[in-house]
Amino acid sequence: MAKSVRVKSFDLVAQDIDEIDVDLLHALSIGVGWPHRPADWDFLRRVGEGIVAVDGIGRVFGSAMWFPHGTDFATVGLVITTPRAQANGAGRWLMEQVLERCDGRNLSLNATKVAYPLYVSLDFQTEATVYMRQGSLCDSPDIGPVDGTLTALPADHIDAVFGFDARAFGTDRARQLALLAEISVSCVLMRDGDVAGYAMRHEFGRGHVIGPIVAQNDQDAIQLAAWHLRALKGGHARIDTRQAQGAFADFLNRCGLGTTETVITMSKGRPFLTPTADAPSVYGLAGHALS
Ligand SMILES: CC(C)(COP(=O)(O)OP(=O)(O)OC[C@H]1O[C@@H](n2cnc3c(N)ncnc32)[C@H](O)[C@@H]1OP(=O)(O)O)[C@@H](O)C(=O)NCCC(=O)NCCS
Repeated sequence: MAKSVRVKSFDLVAQDIDEIDVDLLHALSIGVGWPHRPADWDFLRRVGEGIVAVDGIGRVFGSAMWFPHGTDFATVGLVITTPRAQANGAGRWLMEQVLERCDGRNLSLNATKVAYPLYVSLDFQTEATVYMRQGSLCDSPDIGPVDGTLTALPADHIDAVFGFDARAFGTDRARQLALLAEISVSCVLMRDGDVAGYAMRHEFGRGHVIGPIVAQNDQDAIQLAAWHLRALKGGHARIDTRQAQGAFADFLNRCGLGTTETVITMSKGRPFLTPTADAPSVYGLAGHALS
């Protein structure tokens, strides 16, 4: 008997991600070493839209999602090709499908190193580095008193931060924040009767992601992050931030949250990160795919 067999090539077609068994999506992300749980996929499918590449007998070989905001912007994420199908054109084909379905929208994504050349070839522009900071939490360092009032923010009051968030994020993401609030614990910092910052945390992968963290300055961002870190003491926490250095990055170091990976924020169409004087800043991302 022959020692090997040549397996026939097969065609992949795009199918709506909502029609796929979540366990197949979970297997896809595990296959590339990502920490998503089935519950994380389910949440992302509630928030966004997506496609999967399937063969004739329903096996899943890849995925790509986009998360629309209004009519002219979306973030892109969950772009995965299963390792045995990689380097055969499926990743490019998935992205071409996304671009077609997002025609007319400005786009942003956070690119892994391996995916970066693909996005460059599709005319995405490099904007910033995102540092994935994570670890098991040690004691919170002393950070002094809060300038204002820092309290829990119930999910049904999350609309209080929509306007503040839009000034930092650059686009209105009210729908996404409302859905995120349903699975999150949130806090808000008030000063002189106005929102001065807010932060959310939700279960994800191995522990909790703290994000978004949106604040007027480093000290406020530290207080907001510390509010969550105190509650998670001993657990595993992750914060994705574009703060390379400065007081906020130092604070994360002192809490034991080291950088384990970096990704590159890229955009296609209008630039995504356009900071303006006096506007608040996004110190922590809602997630890699959500930005
Ligand atoms: C990134 C990823 C989706 C690419 O999928 P893929 O099916 O291998 O992509 P393609 O075969 O269409 O290749 C696209 C480009 O990637 C690069 N590339 C792919 N395989 C490569 C290899 N073995 N060596 C060098 N470059 C390679 C090439 O630039 C290629 O461009 P080309 O079409 O001009 O040759 C896949 O590697 C993956 O799932 N990685 C793990 C998860 C991940 O990092 N996702 C990206 C999230 S932002």
